Amino acid sequence: MKAVAVFPKQREVRVIDAPEPRLQSPTQVKVRTREVGVCGTDKDILEFAYGTPPPGSEYLIPGHECLGEVVEVGSAVRGFQKGDLVVPRVRRPCPHATCPACRHGHPDFCLTGDYTERGIKDAHGFCAESFVEDVAYLHRAPVELRDVAVLTEPLTIAEKALRQVKHIQERLPWRPEPGRAVVLGAGPVGQLGVMALLRRGYVTTVYSRSPKPNVKAAAAEAVGAPYLSSKEVSPEELVRRAGAPDLVYEATGSATAAFESLKALAPNGVLVFTGVPSHGQELSLEGAELMKQWVLRNQVVLGTVNASDSDFAAALDDLGRFRARWPGGLERLITSRHPPEDFADVVLGKKGGGGIKHVITFG
Ligand code: BGC
Repeated sequence: MKAVAVFPKQREVRVIDAPEPRLQSPTQVKVRTREVGVCGTDKDILEFAYGTPPPGSEYLIPGHECLGEVVEVGSAVRGFQKGDLVVPRVRRPCPHATCPACRHGHPDFCLTGDYTERGIKDAHGFCAESFVEDVAYLHRAPVELRDVAVLTEPLTIAEKALRQVKHIQERLPWRPEPGRAVVLGAGPVGQLGVMALLRRGYVTTVYSRSPKPNVKAAAAEAVGAPYLSSKEVSPEELVRRAGAPDLVYEATGSATAAFESLKALAPNGVLVFTGVPSHGQELSLEGAELMKQWVLRNQVVLGTVNASDSDFAAALDDLGRFRARWPGGLERLITSRHPPEDFADVVLGKKGGGGIKHVITFG
């Protein structure tokens, strides 16, 4: 079968003829890949700065944002049948009996670091014509979401983050209503974060680099989030215009932008980091000022990675809600579709021309 393969030792990326996977256990399902979204993590993998092939393989099949169609089911599989559309989760638990997170179905909180991630760490991903997966890691996607369900995985980042924020803010005795949010960055994670925040009732502003007009600003404003450019509006001016945010949702992967935004955070506020920055970003901070601010304002800085079963289920529900509330809003986030042969050019920005989410399609 056709598969994209990254060879870290040879520093090469090419489409190969890989062995077609077969069911190995009665609880597995074979899935024909329909669409794979690409993201910043894929860029790091293609630049050989991140990602590891499965043990014993010289290459890694990338791709972790996927929509596929079931083509074969194992004899013990219940509730899935041929023709179902499915979205796979990314992370698989570590093998250690002592890891409470993995043993409780939450490899997203793994303590040992020995988890695997399909398409990223020690396991092949979905950028191939088909893959085999245990049914426990698949979510059925409604047919009505056929055109946008590839956005499920990036939306799970917001689902998990906002669930964590809800838990954290339960520390406040008066149970505050969702207040003001600022989303840093207007890529796919930022845009889906905007929709998730608006749906929960946050008054949401997007703060991103490029001045208007641009497609990202238009997408955010189309769903009701004003867009301000950090090239035109300072963090102080942002606070004057939009008010101090109770929640900053960082979706840039830029350490500088994230720490700069702390100046704007309201008392009792939460800053959520979702980006996995590429290496080599130096930062100088006024440590004492920052520490004083966090203490005197009871602020929380939260990192969040990956997502669990319930976050994928919540993301699929929310895609349906977003589509009903903002017709066309999700579709406009997918700005280009390409064949697998274009994977490297799309990930490295040579094809697709800016845009928001680029997707690889498999027939
Ligand atoms: C993926 C996560 C993954 C993280 C770290 C992100 O791009 O969406 O599923 O845990 O990278 O590898």
